[in-house]
Amino acid sequence: MSSSAQLPRRCWVEIDLAALERNLKLIRASLPPRIKYVAVVKADAYGHGLPQVAARLMHAGADLFGVANIAEAMTIRELSTDWPVLLLSPVLPDEDRYLAEFDLAATVSSPDEVRRFDAIGRAAGRPIAVHLKIDTGMGRLGVWHPGARALYDAIIAAPGLHLAGVFTHFSSADEDPAFTAEQRRIFLATLATLPGLSDRNILIHADNSAGLETTPGESVFNAVRVGLLQFGILPHPHSLLARTRTEPVFSFHTRVGLVKTLPSGTSISYGRTQHLTRDSRIAVLTAGYGDGLARASSGQASVLISGRRCAVLGRITMDQTMVDVTDVPGEVACGDAVVLVGRQGQAEISISEFSAWADTIAWETLCSVTKRVPRHYRTALET
Ligand SMILES: Cc1ncc(COP(=O)(O)O)c(C=O)c1O
Repeated sequence: MSSSAQLPRRCWVEIDLAALERNLKLIRASLPPRIKYVAVVKADAYGHGLPQVAARLMHAGADLFGVANIAEAMTIRELSTDWPVLLLSPVLPDEDRYLAEFDLAATVSSPDEVRRFDAIGRAAGRPIAVHLKIDTGMGRLGVWHPGARALYDAIIAAPGLHLAGVFTHFSSADEDPAFTAEQRRIFLATLATLPGLSDRNILIHADNSAGLETTPGESVFNAVRVGLLQFGILPHPHSLLARTRTEPVFSFHTRVGLVKTLPSGTSISYGRTQHLTRDSRIAVLTAGYGDGLARASSGQASVLISGRRCAVLGRITMDQTMVDVTDVPGEVACGDAVVLVGRQGQAEISISEFSAWADTIAWETLCSVTKRVPRHYRTALET
């Protein structure tokens, strides 16, 4: 019996791992050599597939992986027993023991975490690596900056802990350079209050993809945490990082399931939100919100067929989406290829554009492609 993996494709994602490798190398080349590369691969590597992405990033030379939870960390451990892994989200009390079992670094924001992780390190007879997080204006994890000194002292005094890093996170690096500069200033001023910090061999990091643009090159920073950019997506359209020319790793595809002609005036799809204003050829695509085409983008979105943009008509439904192919030259036929995100001939739909149609961001779009959509991996490096 055939397995579902062998079935013809009707809605799928292509992941170009060779582009991912090139992207990491380009980003690295644009940074000073001393800067360590923390590859942020949480949420199934932004929907690209954690085991495949992490394996390729190991090959490409990522120094450390940032993940959200223990399950993601375990996936990395299945690939490597000792590649450094940092948990970027809080650890729950009943998860503490896995820090020792899988040799994971934890983010520390509170005295309670110091106490818990210290106990685990002592019991294991091997200190737990921790990164002290300082909240400089994100209002999420981290100790609020005036409390950093006390927490730092508590970590240094804890025999079950090993301070491996100090970091902060920018809340608006892609939209508010002035606030980002203020966060950076607060972080640097707070670091200056931590005694003996410069004698410690630790990672000091703040920048995510968008933060990289505002890095003024202070010598104190020696690591960056890169998520979106390594997947070839710029945090915003006018990004200075456009000069690094990273390439999209992700593309999203479906096919034509039916083509038919309908008379002017016919309403299309649920709720009758759109009526044809001319006699039209419409194509019914074999993908809908059950695959990750946001219903909110109904009335906004387009797709590529035969290298032409075709507007989505009416509401996107669970498994099918109607598009206008009246102006596509030549025959559009059942089975034809449709690009939802990516290139077809000279035409392109970027993930940022696709996301904007649904009033969302690329990060969320990547996490919204559903389980039933197979990921196909391109692995070869072009020569
Ligand atoms: C703490 C932290 N660092 C770094 C990143 C990577 O951000 P980006 O995808 O913008 O590079 C994230 C992503 O959400 C994050 O939460």
